Amino acid sequence: MKNKFTIVSIFTLAFCVFTAFINSENPYFIITKKDVELKIPKGFPKPIYKFKLNQPTPEGFILGRKLFYDPILSKDSSISCGSCHQRIAAFAHIDHTLSHGINGLIGNRNVPPIQNMIWQTNFMWDGGINHLDLQPIAPITNAIEMNENLKHVIQKLQCNNNYKILFNRAFYDTIITSEKMLKAISQFVGLMISANSRYDKFMRKEDTLSQQELNGLKLFRLHCAACHKEPLFTDNTFRNNGLLTDTSLKDFGRFAITGLEKDKMKFKVPSLRNIEMTYPYMHDGRFRNLKQVVNHYAKGIFLNETDELIRKINLSEKDQVDIISFLKTLTDKTFLYDIRFAEPL
Ligand code: HEC
Ligand code: HEC
Repeated sequence: MKNKFTIVSIFTLAFCVFTAFINSENPYFIITKKDVELKIPKGFPKPIYKFKLNQPTPEGFILGRKLFYDPILSKDSSISCGSCHQRIAAFAHIDHTLSHGINGLIGNRNVPPIQNMIWQTNFMWDGGINHLDLQPIAPITNAIEMNENLKHVIQKLQCNNNYKILFNRAFYDTIITSEKMLKAISQFVGLMISANSRYDKFMRKEDTLSQQELNGLKLFRLHCAACHKEPLFTDNTFRNNGLLTDTSLKDFGRFAITGLEKDKMKFKVPSLRNIEMTYPYMHDGRFRNLKQVVNHYAKGIFLNETDELIRKINLSEKDQVDIISFLKTLTDKTFLYDIRFAEPL
């Protein structure tokens, strides 16, 4: 009996040494101070989110990443943030028009990308949330997304030895609170910064664009950039871009938050960075590809409440092709393949 016990102990010890070795060699776990330093990209404004109040550290970032990819945040441990937000799609979800949550339930909106969040004043398509630290509470508690409650999530984390270690490393305390959990997620999500597409390199004079892409950029600045403002490709406002209300979803956007008639069918102007990878498009994923999107704008839209700026748009077939070729220069492979944001194996 004693022998058996010794053998088991030796095996356990060997296993621990082995996993420690794997972890130390595993590039996913080599997050240095430099990796979590906020570098404001050239030409970007001052961020809205104050990292000063939640200084990213390698340990905080690693904890945030673990939480982001861990289904423990959902009621039946089936859905993580990363199930809906895919890295290869700039953390949007390729192909799903509406989000898919717990028990195969279908949500009522298209999953938006997560990038450059620290410059955003409002979150969600209707801007219903105004602080990055509070954002995760929405999916965690939403009945058709993760269907959990914060108290229970914290209890589950507190019972988990691995999390006790990770919280202790990040916050020097084994007592887990929702504030610490939310701050760790913000450290991870807030550092998702896309600023190295061909467009960015062109702006920094490190790369050139083709004649077609340049023409697309010119047309974009003329017709689109007032709302999709460079360099973030959003001006953080809510606008009506002329979509007809989906009669089954009955989503009126900003109206749900303010109750003001003038806000009916206004949605947050989305960033267009990595747009090539985030199909399908719009708050309900109604357009499958960029051709359909640009075609929607091509001849101006004259519904009652459509924004003035949209009414003026007039694009020939060639203009549309050129704009699409420009939009594809916003694909940022440095961001999409950044191993810091990958799910650790
Ligand atoms: C079931 C799928 C699903 C899950 C799970 C999910 N999200 Fe989302 N996420 C969405 C959808 C859909 C939206 C847009 C919601 C809206 O507009 O009402 C969104 C919006 C966001 C936004 C705001 C983006 C913007 O541009 O305004 C952030 C940030 C975000 N999610 C992070 C997270 C984090 C962190 C988690 C895990 C705690 C998470 N999400 C879990 C589907 C999901
Ligand atoms: C008046 C402001 C405004 C102008 C001008 C404008 N857009 Fe938009 N755009 C929006 C809004 C608002 C949305 C989101 C609407 C929704 O989902 O209901 C949007 C959505 C999009 C999307 C989908 C993004 C996604 O993640 O699903 C693309 C692509 C796009 N616009 C490209 C363009 C192009 C190209 C032009 C110029 C031809 C343009 N936009 C002009 C306001 C504008």
